[in-house]
Amino acid sequence: MAVLRILNYPDPRLKTVAEPVTDINDPIVQQMIADMLETLVNTPHCGGLAATQLDIQNPKRIFVFYDFFEDKNSKETPTVVINPEIVNTEGEVFEQEGCMSVYPNEILAAILRPARTHMRGLDRHGKPIEFIREGYLAKNFMHEVDHLNGKLYIDHLKPLKRTMLDKKIKKVRTDHAKQKEE
Ligand code: NI
Repeated sequence: MAVLRILNYPDPRLKTVAEPVTDINDPIVQQMIADMLETLVNTPHCGGLAATQLDIQNPKRIFVFYDFFEDKNSKETPTVVINPEIVNTEGEVFEQEGCMSVYPNEILAAILRPARTHMRGLDRHGKPIEFIREGYLAKNFMHEVDHLNGKLYIDHLKPLKRTMLDKKIKKVRTDHAKQKEE
């Protein structure tokens, strides 16, 4: 297992549309899953990661996340979702969101997401799994599925807000580059 590098915006690979997993037993796929889980558990303050935001060759439609559904106080369980499909969504929430690939310590923006999401997919053994989640996890699903479609949460912003945020991101990137030089 290996901890993978998280790609940073504006890395063009963040626009990759991932291909579905066709053979769950493919050792490359199982290695990808193991590495993604290893990366998740070694990344503090990270709720989920999609294959397309990691330094992976030919990323597949896989994401990993912490499912807090069972018991909010229980130990966080890293969960794997392969070939996720949104069955339906309900309601709307307008809340702040961030992303490990978009300077999460500095950049947040409020965007509109469904309040409740019904999603299905496969687990790492190929068994069908289904989730109906609200709040943070509902948003998280949409966020990760967006990643697998080459889309970032900031792509949901209205043009004016996006232009303003891009300026802020540019400044953060410049600051980070300066810190590296020092
Ligand atoms: Ni993200």
